[in-house]
Amino acid sequence: MRMSGNTALVTGAAGGIGAASAKLFASEGAQVVVCDIDFLGAKNVAKKICDEGGKAIAVKLDVTDEAAWIECFDEALDRFDRIDTVMNNAGLIENLTIEETTVDIFDRLCSVNLKGVFLGCKIAIGHMKQRSPDLPFASIINVSSTAGFVGTARTGIYTMTKGGVRLFTKSVAVEVAELGYNIRCNSLHPGATETPMYDDILVSRNITKSEFRELAKTRNPLGRMAQPYEIANGALFLASNDSSFMTGTELALDGGYAAR
Ligand SMILES: NC(=O)c1ccc[n+]([C@@H]2O[C@H](COP(=O)([O-])OP(=O)(O)OC[C@H]3O[C@@H](n4cnc5c(N)ncnc54)[C@H](O)[C@@H]3O)[C@@H](O)[C@H]2O)c1
Repeated sequence: MRMSGNTALVTGAAGGIGAASAKLFASEGAQVVVCDIDFLGAKNVAKKICDEGGKAIAVKLDVTDEAAWIECFDEALDRFDRIDTVMNNAGLIENLTIEETTVDIFDRLCSVNLKGVFLGCKIAIGHMKQRSPDLPFASIINVSSTAGFVGTARTGIYTMTKGGVRLFTKSVAVEVAELGYNIRCNSLHPGATETPMYDDILVSRNITKSEFRELAKTRNPLGRMAQPYEIANGALFLASNDSSFMTGTELALDGGYAAR
């Protein structure tokens, strides 16, 4: 029960890595606020957690909307006493060359992947700094990607945003420490993971899942894609006190992809 007494808010938690993390946090004793722009999906995840004996609520949240963030925290704090973990996980990807990318697509990716993380950190800090200093440090987890370390073709804007998330995380970590708040902030860097996002990429690249599994054998040293629960395990480490001396740094869960 590594999350006992902890309330965790996860964005983009209707599916994929976010849903896996919300479920794992709950199974480790956390109360979970399952947030997504897809409210029905978020409700399904929260229901599943409750059906299995955990505690969760679903909140509709568009991470790009500051007023919605404030309402989301208000709703969560009506139900739970405080929020100890915020996982800024919601994200979008594109599959276009830079020449094909329109300004609208650029704006949409920056809005969700960058503004969403900025707002998540801003609102989280405002709340977390008021927690009792006797509690373990609060934790903010910003989900970046291997694209936050290395460049790849046809995901230039995604790479730009994920690099931004990685460095913004460091500024958050340093700033809240200097201000004396008991908050840690780290970035999480998944490699290719079998989620709906990856399904969409494969469709747009006209590659089947089994063809990609073949490609994955040479793509990273471990020779396969990750399952969402493997990324959730990293999120659990960053959320829990197991990572109590860790702030402003990156946790890569990428089968060694960025190591070579
Ligand atoms: N799947 C991968 O291979 C992979 C690899 C590296 C990093 N990541 C990152 O992990 C995170 C989760 O990815 P995933 O693969 O689980 O994706 P996913 O598409 O399966 O899930 C993303 C969720 O975000 C939600 N979302 C989208 N826009 C939103 C908004 N404006 N407000 C609130 N919610 C919104 C979607 O409804 C969806 O439920 C993303 O930040 C992604 O960039 C994924």
